[in-house]
Amino acid sequence: MFCSKSSLAFLFMVLLQSEISLAISTDSTLDKFITCAQVHSSVTIPISKTIFNPKNSSYTSVLQNPAVNLRFIEPSVRKPEFIFTPLHDAHVQAAVICSKQLGIQIRIRSGGHDYEGVSYTSVFETRFIVVDIGNLRSIIVDIEKSSAWVQAGATNGEVYYRIAEKSKIHAYPAGACTSLGIGGHITGGGYGSLHRKYGLAADNVIDARIVDANGRILDREAMGEDLFWAIRGGGGASFGIILWWKIKLVPVPETVTVFTVTKTLEEGATKLLYRWQQVADKVDEDLLIRVLISPSNVSSTRTISTTYDGFFLGNSDRLLQVIQESFPELGVTRKDCVELDWIGSVMYLSNNPSGTSVEFLLQRKSVFRTYFKAKSDFVRDPIPEAALEGIWKLLLEEDSPVVLLSPYGGKMSKISESETPFPHRSGTIFIFEYMTVWTDGEKGTEKHKGWIRKLYGYLTPYVSKFPREAYVNYRDFDLGVNKNSNTSYIEASVWGKKYFKNNFDRLVKVKTEVDPDNFFRHEQSIPPLPVWKN
Ligand SMILES: Cc1cc2nc3c(=O)[nH]c(=O)nc-3n(C[C@H](O)[C@H](O)[C@H](O)COP(=O)(O)OP(=O)(O)OC[C@H]3O[C@@H](n4cnc5c(N)ncnc54)[C@H](O)[C@@H]3O)c2cc1C
Ligand SMILES: *[C@@H]1O[C@H](CO)[C@@H](O)[C@H](O)[C@H]1NC(C)=O
Ligand SMILES: *[C@@H]1O[C@H](CO)[C@@H](O)[C@H](O)[C@H]1NC(C)=O
Ligand SMILES: *[C@@H]1O[C@H](CO)[C@@H](O)[C@H](O)[C@H]1NC(C)=O
Repeated sequence: MFCSKSSLAFLFMVLLQSEISLAISTDSTLDKFITCAQVHSSVTIPISKTIFNPKNSSYTSVLQNPAVNLRFIEPSVRKPEFIFTPLHDAHVQAAVICSKQLGIQIRIRSGGHDYEGVSYTSVFETRFIVVDIGNLRSIIVDIEKSSAWVQAGATNGEVYYRIAEKSKIHAYPAGACTSLGIGGHITGGGYGSLHRKYGLAADNVIDARIVDANGRILDREAMGEDLFWAIRGGGGASFGIILWWKIKLVPVPETVTVFTVTKTLEEGATKLLYRWQQVADKVDEDLLIRVLISPSNVSSTRTISTTYDGFFLGNSDRLLQVIQESFPELGVTRKDCVELDWIGSVMYLSNNPSGTSVEFLLQRKSVFRTYFKAKSDFVRDPIPEAALEGIWKLLLEEDSPVVLLSPYGGKMSKISESETPFPHRSGTIFIFEYMTVWTDGEKGTEKHKGWIRKLYGYLTPYVSKFPREAYVNYRDFDLGVNKNSNTSYIEASVWGKKYFKNNFDRLVKVKTEVDPDNFFRHEQSIPPLPVWKN
């Protein structure tokens, strides 16, 4: 996602206090849930203090504060009957047991960044509750063993902070934005600045604790390798509720180097981007250069700006050498280079306000909060210059589009497609994310969706095919949705193969084994195969 300090200042938004369309709250369901949860959680904290129903004055802020896409807090969007905010692992078990008993659906939320709001609203469920685990965010770092146990409600920024607090030479490869819930983020893969060197967040998980559909807590040994495989990239909320991840820390040098170089169309942006596509996935694994593209105004002419954000695991001397050998056309000079420690680079590459101290990471704040629609593609052959020009034309038609290109290659290509459910590996030059943001609320939605669909159509010849791949963490309902809890394998394959390629079949098999009744379901959850019961 877009984590450039340069471009997103205009996106700071004050939460619009919108009216809640009153959820059909049946007090008896709520009372029954509280009674049940009290019985099933072996802790003495009163459950009622952790439950917010529409009559509680803080219901709206508890529901909306973690919601990153403002499209899904509009009055017309379905709201949960109540929100349960567990304070203990046992509360999460109780949430599963009791909602199952009462026949009520749950939505699971960690950080609230879901692109289609799946963690706090629903298209097909008329009655549901939200289980928001944002309070469960302990982080236990063991530097000697190069690992950490992280509770799923923590943000990736909090994880980075707690690692950096103990060591300057350890890190964790995950997203560049620092407000992502580690619970949802790792379930889809997770890439940022270190994936060319170390792979995805999901590639660096060594154990987990989850609550399964029967309300049991299982670790890696107890859940078995199939389920452990499925939760590391198979998408959120299909297999259980992640309580904890045990992550592997990776080594980083004490000094890393970052730089930013911007080129407009007038400065030869098109040729340079064509060249970037030929080298970005092949350069030294210590170097990652992503490109952020958006319209900008240069002396009152609207043009396209391409911003190259570089991250290098080493000092500026060596960086300049590597760039000189592989991509001299970019024209990076010593003046452009900033040497930092790793956590400094996290702040540099995030979209947090520039100059904010690292303590900002503990505030769990997403500085990106707006109305948006996004899509993703994977590019395997350089997009020709003439086609890039067509893309510029489309970008110039739209109010506030943003494109982010992140190169893969390196470690990403050395991991086989079936190692985890995330299949977009060898042969991928870069992931192409595009998004349009707006501020005029619901009335802008159809227009902006129309524009992004046009760009998706335009890109067809230039991106992956059969299937046209997409990144599950950039959830996109345009690819297809489950219509209800009975969606068939065939229907779900339409979007499932795009996210997971052939891994989709194994995900369905695991789902059928661990959750045959489809308790954990949503608009793009993995469906189980029908099980014939005698
Ligand atoms: C501003 C922004 C920046 C981003 N930057 C990056 C980036 O740099 N790299 C990258 O790879 N991705 C990035 N993403 C995408 C991000 O990885 C996904 O949106 C991710 O799913 C967010 O997780 P969450 O916990 O914050 O979201 P949530 O909305 O809480 O959850 C997302 C999904 O996971 C499920 N889920 C949540 N918690 C759990 C749990 N504990 N157990 C089981 N299922 C759960 C939810 O039900 C939902 O289906 C970005 C997204 C945004 C909005
Ligand atoms: C919400 O209101 C109910 C009474 O309607 C109360 O019992 C409960 O404690 C309130 N929740 C919170 C979190 O304060
Ligand atoms: C460019 O200028 C126009 C007209 O002044 C303005 O509406 C628009 O927001 C500006 N765009 C950017 C990206 O700054
Ligand atoms: C799903 O299928 C079952 C069994 O065929 C049926 O009882 C149920 O009503 C169906 N549910 C929906 C939402 O269609």
